[in-house]
Amino acid sequence: MKILVVGGGGREHALAWKLAQSEKVSEVLVAPGNAGTASEAGMRNVDVSAEDIDGLIDLARSESVGLTVVGPEAPLAAGIVDRFESAGLKCFGPGADAARLESSKAFAKDFMSRHDIPTAAFGVVDDVEEGMEMIHGIGLPIVLKADGLAAGKGVVIVETEDEARATLEDMLSGEAFGQAGRRVVIEEFLVGEEASFIVVASGRQFLSMASSQDHKRRDDGDRGPNTGGMGAYSPAPVVDETLHRQIVEQVIEPTLEGLADDDAAFTGFLYAGVMLTATGPKVLEFNVRFGDPETQPIMLRLKSDLVELIEHALDGRLDEIELEWDERTALAVVMAAGGYPGSYEKGHPITGLDAAFPDDVKIFHAGTELDEDGRVVTSGGRVLAFCALGDTVREAQARAYQWIAQIGFEDAFYRSDIGFRAIERS
Ligand code: AMP
Ligand code: GLY
Repeated sequence: MKILVVGGGGREHALAWKLAQSEKVSEVLVAPGNAGTASEAGMRNVDVSAEDIDGLIDLARSESVGLTVVGPEAPLAAGIVDRFESAGLKCFGPGADAARLESSKAFAKDFMSRHDIPTAAFGVVDDVEEGMEMIHGIGLPIVLKADGLAAGKGVVIVETEDEARATLEDMLSGEAFGQAGRRVVIEEFLVGEEASFIVVASGRQFLSMASSQDHKRRDDGDRGPNTGGMGAYSPAPVVDETLHRQIVEQVIEPTLEGLADDDAAFTGFLYAGVMLTATGPKVLEFNVRFGDPETQPIMLRLKSDLVELIEHALDGRLDEIELEWDERTALAVVMAAGGYPGSYEKGHPITGLDAAFPDDVKIFHAGTELDEDGRVVTSGGRVLAFCALGDTVREAQARAYQWIAQIGFEDAFYRSDIGFRAIERS
């Protein structure tokens, strides 16, 4: 069967790579894909954007695609799954109703309070003075979040009153994030270590994926501005059996039950970003899709057939299978373009991609494309995720940094300490 993967980042390269390994698959189409998916065996890029739902339906029909897997949140929020289903096409991901868990932070917070899911204390405002009053009530530092989708940039932690007022004005006026910022969630600042808990869900059923953690800050030591993610690894030793059970019982189960009870049953990958606080896990955010860059190390460790897993989820038969994982640790270091997460240049040729890498190293592309001469050039902020497997997290880290030095482009940068928290723990 042919599979269509929607999206063109590192997550989609990793999903397509794993899907292409299934015996059930003849070819994986990626729309729009990147230079990495363009050069993998059994894959083909198609020039349709991830948000062109009509174009994607036409593509799935004309290519007789048997299954579509959606990577990014924007098409999910826009109802791609509902549209594919109405067209009689199989598509894996939540419908627009359930996708509100990610597309509206106000919805997600209200959902969590209604279903007793632990999360930071909060309020929702659309007025600066009302917001300042609430901030006085909760106290500084405080977290301000644009309600709608803002490509991972809509969250600001403020330390002072002046900063709070300026940020609120910026968001609520529509200057900073357009419509997405016209409502703002004001949240208590939580202290702790973060973990990504990802499950594959089918209504009330689910299977947990291997644990993982990402590094959201740009600079070493988890400092500097927030990014989409500068690296990740799996497993995350901080998520021991007790925490795993707590997160399942206090977060995953009530979320899936609550959505099903609210007539918005969830099928797809559900990602809970949790803060492990002194008083237990609390949800920072939900994503209604796989994490990026968490997907890259998790796919490297998944031994089971991903197509079979998705088919079981679509059929409501997740109780019939178990997932098998590589015992090793996988670690991904993101190589980014100078300036990211702010503005950055594009079009720089990437060298070293054809070096002779060992089997336990894998490069997943993100912001790359082929130029007119067929050279791989940069086309985004997060350019690629350099991944390695190792018997321990220390070894995976050493492998990644040993080999990443082969790769380069103008103004490239990456963090030199991905995995440090896991190494400290071990
Ligand atoms: P979000 O997109 O909601 O996950 O927020 C992005 C990042 O901001 C999170 O990964 C955290 O590092 C940080 N963050 C979000 N909410 C809070 C909070 N209530 N307390 C502390 N840090 C937070
Ligand atoms: N790595 C965080 C995310 O995918 O949103």
